[in-house]
Amino acid sequence: MKTISVVIEKYAPPGNGLGFYQGKAVFVPRTVVGDEVLVSPEKEKKRYIIGRLEKVVKPGLKRREVLCPHYAECGGCDLLHLAYSDQLELKKDMLLQVLAGAGIQTGVNMIAAPDEFHYRHRALFRRDAETGGVGFLRRRSHQVVAVPECLVLAPALLALLKELRVSSALPEKMLSCHGLASSSGTFAAAVEVGSCCQALSGILESVTENYGFGDLELAASGFAQVNPAITRLMINDLLKHCADACEVAELYGGSGTFSLPLATIARHLTVYESDSAAAARGRRNATRNSFDNVCFISGRVERKTLPDSLDTLVVDPPRSGLDPLVVEKIVKSKASQLIYISCNPATLARDLARLKELDNGFIFDSLTAYDMYAGTTHLEVMAYLKR
Ligand SMILES: C[S@@+](CC[C@H](N)C(=O)[O-])C[C@H]1O[C@@H](n2cnc3c(N)ncnc32)[C@H](O)[C@@H]1O
Repeated sequence: MKTISVVIEKYAPPGNGLGFYQGKAVFVPRTVVGDEVLVSPEKEKKRYIIGRLEKVVKPGLKRREVLCPHYAECGGCDLLHLAYSDQLELKKDMLLQVLAGAGIQTGVNMIAAPDEFHYRHRALFRRDAETGGVGFLRRRSHQVVAVPECLVLAPALLALLKELRVSSALPEKMLSCHGLASSSGTFAAAVEVGSCCQALSGILESVTENYGFGDLELAASGFAQVNPAITRLMINDLLKHCADACEVAELYGGSGTFSLPLATIARHLTVYESDSAAAARGRRNATRNSFDNVCFISGRVERKTLPDSLDTLVVDPPRSGLDPLVVEKIVKSKASQLIYISCNPATLARDLARLKELDNGFIFDSLTAYDMYAGTTHLEVMAYLKR
């Protein structure tokens, strides 16, 4: 297909540059404002084209040299071509646009990543069934791009990646592998074979992490925060919001990343988690750190009853956000404050609107965004709401 020449005029979420060709909008990932680029149209509709960047003819002022040799193919990162301060600006604008779409006009406190590179402690590695190459998926594709090295992985995950690349003991049908590294440099792995997760011989299944509130067992097959340095900053802010909390419920608690810190403040903490293995780890994590004020309840929170006596709610749902049933439970609870942690601004914005529109609902107060995933368009957000 022929290439077309486009000048990028502005940014368009998520992470695209926007230019025009013969009156049609052209969306091109990995471009900056002012770039003159050659683009291959990948998808052409009546009003717009989605294009693939073929060549930068003249770079825009904010373009920087990309240090990753796999950036053009690998779908893992999408903002490495922007200076770090400009990445933050772009993400802030994207967040404000999404919130404005839900009728929320606010300022955003944006917390930069302490480390722009080698911050990532959790990753899903993919293996090409034919070549056996290990890496990440190509952008908008199921094709595996083998990556011998990676700019954002923590050193311990680079060590795991190396093992996966050279090991002759991987299950033949392994298509992906969850990797998790601790701040102290150990790593764990769980491979997916069909719909099952299994251990790899000679490699740990879980690591011990410590965010300053006791040792925390986290499994490679379960959920863990990607960036421990940012997680520590988030815990700090969460505890500030909860300084006067007494009766607390935490929904979507995983294995206790936020539960152990909350347990240092709360009189009682009830944690809800659907994954029974994660909830069991959470119970062990509370016990081994002598928190006898924490109760983990396993099962979907939609089907549970929240405690009668409650002043504070903390929620950290998956990307899909809160089910309408959960929104209703939250609003009907006795809690007077709600801290909503989100990895998806779109569902957060939707839920903030839903939480407000019910009778005696929660009103948005303030919000902080954390650059948990530098080099990508993703963000972690903590919103504070009151009655
Ligand atoms: C974004 S993670 C947060 C985990 C934890 N807060 C942490 O930081 O480690 C979301 C968690 O919610 C759990 N989950 C997903 N759907 C759920 C539901 N309907 N009810 C309860 N927990 C759920 C997942 O298993 C996962 O552990």
